[in-house]
Amino acid sequence: MSNPPEIERFTRSHKRERSRLSWGRGRGSDSLETAPILQVERLRVAYGSVVVVRDLDFVIERGASVAILGANGAGKTSTVEALAGLIPKQGGCVRFNAQNVTRATASEMARRGLALVPQTRDLFATFSVEETLVAGASAATGRDAGRLVDIYDLFPRLSERRWQLAGTLSGGEQQMLAIGRALMSSPILLVLDEPSGGLAPAIIGDLIDALCEIRRRGLTLLVVEQNLELAEAIADRCVVMSAGVLRWAGSMENAIANEAIREAYFA
Ligand SMILES: Nc1ncnc2c1ncn2[C@@H]1O[C@H](COP(=O)(O)OP(=O)(O)O)[C@@H](O)[C@H]1O
Ligand SMILES: [Mg+2]
Repeated sequence: MSNPPEIERFTRSHKRERSRLSWGRGRGSDSLETAPILQVERLRVAYGSVVVVRDLDFVIERGASVAILGANGAGKTSTVEALAGLIPKQGGCVRFNAQNVTRATASEMARRGLALVPQTRDLFATFSVEETLVAGASAATGRDAGRLVDIYDLFPRLSERRWQLAGTLSGGEQQMLAIGRALMSSPILLVLDEPSGGLAPAIIGDLIDALCEIRRRGLTLLVVEQNLELAEAIADRCVVMSAGVLRWAGSMENAIANEAIREAYFA
């Protein structure tokens, strides 16, 4: 499945990058600093008696960027919602920042520093851009909240529209706002569920630029995607799912170069 020399190479380049980290550093002892941000073992998610994620294993190292790829219905959203504590885990073990969070609630996960940008974005239509961002900062319990100036620097379009109501923004602007709101909580892991979903190609380019910048600032990312261009630009590793099961894991580069993987899962 995964390729040890690749992971080794990746870990080395990741260490080089750590000196430039400015976001998502978290806190804690040296051992906390080197523990993976997320360790998922045998994760199982079900709706009633229907199991939709089965025995899923993957790890996200600090500073890494991992994509979950797979067609509609593969179990990607169920996976990230279970990790964010929004739906229960039926089995398995999840460690976040070296702590067992298998039974943690959504508010506890937010407090611990996992921010999910949901597939549906879930903005309050009657909140202005700035009110939405300020509300996002309230999840930064125990950490310094993000700064509006940094979000506006990352997304100048939001700065121009700071008093506009969220419900009147374009789809791309709403996605930027949902990401900005998540960043205001100073997360140590940012999870994005199909950020490019429903967006025009021109806007996807802007979104890729912003996510690359977030990445460069050192934040650890987990991005669910069906858009290969975005996944390739953002992620160094990927987990490929279908029918609730992990089918392949390895470098993004190898996933794209692998014709069998491409044909089976990226159609
Ligand atoms: N609230 C729900 N109740 C019952 N089944 C659900 C619910 N949400 C998703 N499912 C089912 O779980 C499976 C995985 O869905 P989902 O996690 O949304 O996949 P993906 O995000 O990869 O498209 C699908 O078969 C879907 O129909
Ligand atoms: Mg989904």
